[in-house]
Amino acid sequence: MSASRGRTFVGTPATAPGPLGPEMLRSFSAIRRNPVDYLMSVWQAYGDVVQFPIPRPPSYLVNDPDAVRRVLVSNGRNYGKSTIQYRALSLVTGEGLLVADTPAWRRQRPLVQPAFHHETLEHLVAHIDVALQRMFRDWESQPAGAVIDVDAAMMTAALEIVGHALFGTDLSADAHRLAHATLAALEVVVARARVPVTPPSWVPTPGNRRLHAAVSELDGAVRRMMADRIGADVSEPRDMLDLLISARDDTGAGLTPVEVRDQIVTFIVAGHETVASALTWSWALLAEHPEIQESLREESDRVLGGRPPTFADYGRLPVARAVLDEALRLFPPAWLITRSAVEPDTLGGRDIPAGALVILSPWLLHRHPEVWRDADSFDPTRFLDGSADRTAFIPFGGGLRQCIGRDFAYVEGVLMLSVIAGRFSFAYPRGAGRPAAEPLVTVRPVGGLPLRVLRR
Ligand code: HEM
Repeated sequence: MSASRGRTFVGTPATAPGPLGPEMLRSFSAIRRNPVDYLMSVWQAYGDVVQFPIPRPPSYLVNDPDAVRRVLVSNGRNYGKSTIQYRALSLVTGEGLLVADTPAWRRQRPLVQPAFHHETLEHLVAHIDVALQRMFRDWESQPAGAVIDVDAAMMTAALEIVGHALFGTDLSADAHRLAHATLAALEVVVARARVPVTPPSWVPTPGNRRLHAAVSELDGAVRRMMADRIGADVSEPRDMLDLLISARDDTGAGLTPVEVRDQIVTFIVAGHETVASALTWSWALLAEHPEIQESLREESDRVLGGRPPTFADYGRLPVARAVLDEALRLFPPAWLITRSAVEPDTLGGRDIPAGALVILSPWLLHRHPEVWRDADSFDPTRFLDGSADRTAFIPFGGGLRQCIGRDFAYVEGVLMLSVIAGRFSFAYPRGAGRPAAEPLVTVRPVGGLPLRVLRR
């Protein structure tokens, strides 16, 4: 591995192979076009640990399976979240759990955890059913075999479900406003991330003005929704907002109103498009594999038999779970995970200095040929026969900072897949195929996912 020998970036010695400055400059338009394709190409060219020609902070792509485990799990305490990716997201989410660096996170996590307890998951099943019934009415009002944007349908259903879980079913106008303002603000943040140099958020560019308008709408909506609950009896919490407001740690302290706001926005950001994206790609892959669609339907008929799902059904649907896992492997919604090294470390035999930016990509790791046989093919049986190496399967991250909504996402994803497959089948319209994937906040299908939807 001599590519690192002698390279320095403004005084920072290179410790791993990687592209030189001019090569990276030439790649800017490719990076903007599709950052995942770019990461894939540097991994293939330079190996499992790649250093980019950036002096501050020294920046590495790490795709060595043991090294990824080290960053997330065995040496996870050495890696914080003070990175450019999470700072950009915090313009919308504030210091919510997803972006909080270690000290703030340590205080928040026990206060947020109760919102994800068993009862929340049990209530979730009813919310899923309501969203599905609405979606089915919509689909059944269309002519037989109509072409429907399944991606848009999954986004609407996932937003409705997380909204009901957060605020209960009697959603006020404020809840709708909040969800839409969150999405508008996120759009600006993603657009900012696409250009190499962005003016700071206080400069009144059109994008920043949109961001501020969306964030202040969002703050207003949360403030009004919380005001309704101040003084209300939350001894029997009805939804996740009640659970956040009533949580207390060992010292009797709770979350401040600003912290509650930050968690709510975080849950909308982290808990809506991610699940929708996983479901969309599941249908995109299933439409290519009628035989797997058929075994999903067979399981649905046998276990649910057309009735509404219960929480107990969730554990009885291994085929639906394997399909979801395989879609999460090939199209991990969170395609990028970043960390900042606190102390120096060694990853994949390469020295990583303190302060380095470490970039992990589930998209790349899930295609590592040393771990995944036939990595590019859609084969849910690998999750049924025990051959999948779950230690190199990180759609929800891993270690201390693993996704707090993992069970929430699995219950929602598995039940949605099974109920829908029991009632409808999906095929590509003639001449159409799987859409291209575009990595934004999550991995989105370009042009949505128009599929021919047939009632069984
Ligand atoms: C398929 C769906 C989902 C995927 C793929 C996903 C993915 C992830 C990943 C990769 C992380 C770790 C990020 C890192 O290590 O830097 C994470 C963290 C997080 N997720 Fe999810 N997520 C999903 C669903 C949800 C849901 C439904 C919620 C909430 C309703 C949620 C809330 C969070 C929060 C709050 C964190 C931060 C946890 C912490 O640092 O303690 N996620 N998610």
